[in-house]
Amino acid sequence: MNGPPSPGPGRDPSSRVVAGRASYLILHNTSEVVTPDSEGRAILRYPRGAVVFRGGRVIEVGPGPELLRRHTDARPLSANGRLVTPGLVDCHTHMIFAGHRAGELQRRLRGEGYAAIAAGGGGIRATVAATAAERDDTLEKSLANRLERWRANGCTSVEVKSGYGLTPSGEIRLLELMRAAAQRVPARLHCTALLLHALPPEFRERRTEYLAAMVGRVLPEIAVRQLASAVDVFCDPMAFSVEECRAVLTRARELGLDVKLHADQLERSQGARLAAELGACSADHLESATEDDWKALAAAGVVGVLLPAAALTLGQSLPEAAMLRRAGARWAISTDFNPGTAPAQSLIECAALAARQCGFDAEETLMSVTWNAARALRVETEVGHLNPGAWGDAVAWECEALEELPYWLPAVRPDTVFMRGADLALPSVERRVWP
Ligand code: NIG
Ligand code: FE
Repeated sequence: MNGPPSPGPGRDPSSRVVAGRASYLILHNTSEVVTPDSEGRAILRYPRGAVVFRGGRVIEVGPGPELLRRHTDARPLSANGRLVTPGLVDCHTHMIFAGHRAGELQRRLRGEGYAAIAAGGGGIRATVAATAAERDDTLEKSLANRLERWRANGCTSVEVKSGYGLTPSGEIRLLELMRAAAQRVPARLHCTALLLHALPPEFRERRTEYLAAMVGRVLPEIAVRQLASAVDVFCDPMAFSVEECRAVLTRARELGLDVKLHADQLERSQGARLAAELGACSADHLESATEDDWKALAAAGVVGVLLPAAALTLGQSLPEAAMLRRAGARWAISTDFNPGTAPAQSLIECAALAARQCGFDAEETLMSVTWNAARALRVETEVGHLNPGAWGDAVAWECEALEELPYWLPAVRPDTVFMRGADLALPSVERRVWP
C-alpha cells in the first residue's frame, strides 16, 4: 500500500469537540496498541502499549511499562486489557436523507435491475422526493443521531455527502442542515457537496441549464460560505458523462475545493481516469475498474475507495487484494451508507466483508479504515493514526487482538471511544436512529 507523501495540515472541522477537557493522560493496560505509522506505510503494533495525550493530541505512543515510568504526572486511564486503535474514519456516506427504500431491495432480489427501478421513478429520485417533503429539524436531528451511532461504532471522523437535494436550492438546504447537525455531535464531520447525482425531473429538457447553474451559482456559493470542503459527482452512463463531470470538478478545484468521483461503478465510465487526471482525493466504487485504472490512480496518488455493501447489494464483485497490491494502489473501505445501495450502518462490518471478499489481512483492513480513509479526506496529518501530533481520537475495543476486528460478525463493539483524549460516554441510540 504505497502512496504519495502527506500534503499540508488537514482541516479540523469540529474544533469545538471537548476542547475544555483537554489534559495530560496516559491510556495504558492495553492488550496492544495498533496504529498506522505517520506516513501510512506500515502498521505499528505495541503489545501492552500505551498512548499519551496532552492538549487533546497524541504526544507519544509505545511500550506501556516504559511510558508509564516516564509520564508519572499523566492521569492514568486503564484500557482494561483491550485492543486500542485510532478512531476509525468513514470517508464516504450519504447520511442525510429521509425514509428508506426497503421495497426496492425486495424488487431487486426478485430480479429487477437498479437502473430499471431508477428509470421507473424509484432510486435516487424517490429519496429526493422523501427528503424534500421532510422537515428541516427532523433531517438535522436524524443526521445528528446517525453521527452518534457512527461514533458509538468507533468512527470519530465521518464524511457526509449532500446529493438528495438535487436542485440548486435543495443541495444548499442539505449542506446547511449538515453544518447545523455538526454543531450537535462530538464527531469530526467532513462535508461534501454531491452536485451531480441525478438530473432533477424538472430539468429533463434543460440539462445544460442545470449544469450551468451548478458551475455558475452553486459552486461559488459553496466556496464563499464554506459549506463543503469537497465536491463529488456520479460519473456513469445512467448519471453524468466524463465531460460534464470534468466541467464541474475543474471549476470546484479552481475555487479551492477538493474533488472526488463515484467512478466506474455500474459500468466502466472512465471515472478513475478522470480522477487521476484531476488529482482527485479519491475515486470511489470502482467495481468495474481495470487493473490499469488502479495503476493510473496509484501513479496520481488517488485513494481508491471500496464500498462492499453497495457491491453486495448490486451483486457486483470487489477487486482482489493481489491485483491491488500489484498495482501499487492505496485503498480505503467505507460504508457508502445510503437508502438505496448500502443501508450499512457499521464500518467495521463493511471492512470484515471486504477482507473476506478481497483477501485483505487484518493490518491491511485496519489501514483501509484509518490512515488511507483519512488520506481520502486529506486529513491524514490529523487523524487516522496515533502518532505524535495527531488528534487523540482512539477506540478501546471489546476484544484483545487486531485479528478479531475483521473476524466477528456482527462486528466487535467499542468499549470506549476517545476524542481529543477525552472519554466520550457512548450514546444509546439504537431505538432513535433507524429508519
Ligand atoms: O453511492 N451511485 C450513486 N449513489 C449512491 C446510491 C444512491 C441511491 O441509490 O440512493 C451510491 O451507491
Ligand atoms: Fe456513494
